[in-house]
Amino acid sequence: MADLDQNTVTDAVIEQMAATPDPRMREVMASLVRHLHDFARDVRLTPAEWLAAIDFLTRVGQACTPIRQEFILLSDTLGLSRLVNLMDDKANRVGEATETSLLGPFYRESSPQFAYGESIASRAKGPEMMLFGRVLNEAGEGVPNAIVEIWQTDADGAYDLQVNNPEVMDMRGQFRTDAEGRYAIRTLVPIGYSIPMDGPVGAMVRAQNRHGFRPAHIHMLIGAEGYRELVTALYLGDDKHIGSDTVFGVSESLVVRPRTGVEGSPDPGLPSVRYDFRVARKAEHDTSGRVGADPSRIAAE
Ligand code: BEZ
Ligand code: FE
Repeated sequence: MADLDQNTVTDAVIEQMAATPDPRMREVMASLVRHLHDFARDVRLTPAEWLAAIDFLTRVGQACTPIRQEFILLSDTLGLSRLVNLMDDKANRVGEATETSLLGPFYRESSPQFAYGESIASRAKGPEMMLFGRVLNEAGEGVPNAIVEIWQTDADGAYDLQVNNPEVMDMRGQFRTDAEGRYAIRTLVPIGYSIPMDGPVGAMVRAQNRHGFRPAHIHMLIGAEGYRELVTALYLGDDKHIGSDTVFGVSESLVVRPRTGVEGSPDPGLPSVRYDFRVARKAEHDTSGRVGADPSRIAAE
């Protein structure tokens, strides 16, 4: 048996894990060990720093609850969620399909259902806007009966989960497209808001002198029989943080500017955005493009 040194320890670990029956797990873990060891050698990780990292990750885990996912927030603020999103888009986004964006930590399943043009604001108050358009397929034809789920902050920049008890849903809902693929949603104008800064991830962001804000946005999840699920968001172009999102979710094609007098708006007197979403046919071996989940489902799945 040869004594290990700071270089040979890496191969020793990978060799011991080489019997892993699942080939993908074997590949991922070997690469993880290689990069983790390279990282530790690169920064000359000290015992005190190693312990600080363990303490940090422990606190990240302890901050998770059925309505809060601090690990997703960590992944988001490190740009990992966006990277996974971008890679999945590159591998699976077809043709002109709408670009994806982060699901974020505030998505919830089973939100209330609304009819064409109804408002998702049941409790929250503030300036209103209209969001309308069509869900189209690759040929530019309307996709009927698609589910358009939407969730966003209220006009104070808070999600329902942050202001109400979890039984109360507000500023979120599900719409069905009509026979021509049309949808219309009355909502409040979202404002930019800070990611949750009261936990270990917030402390990290503050220690890095980052502002912690996301530009104002509206999340969408669009699903239709036979089509690839689309997880995306629309970002308001006049937000001062549009170019410095703390979680790196913005792309140019998703930036919108509400204005009055938009042709075809169900209420042209309101600031409106017309946005047509493009969905792609489901591939044979389609896997979910969701980078995130309803936090209450994560431990259960
Ligand atoms: C959000 O979109 O709401 C969000 C995304 C990532 C981290 C925090 C919030
Ligand atoms: Fe959000």
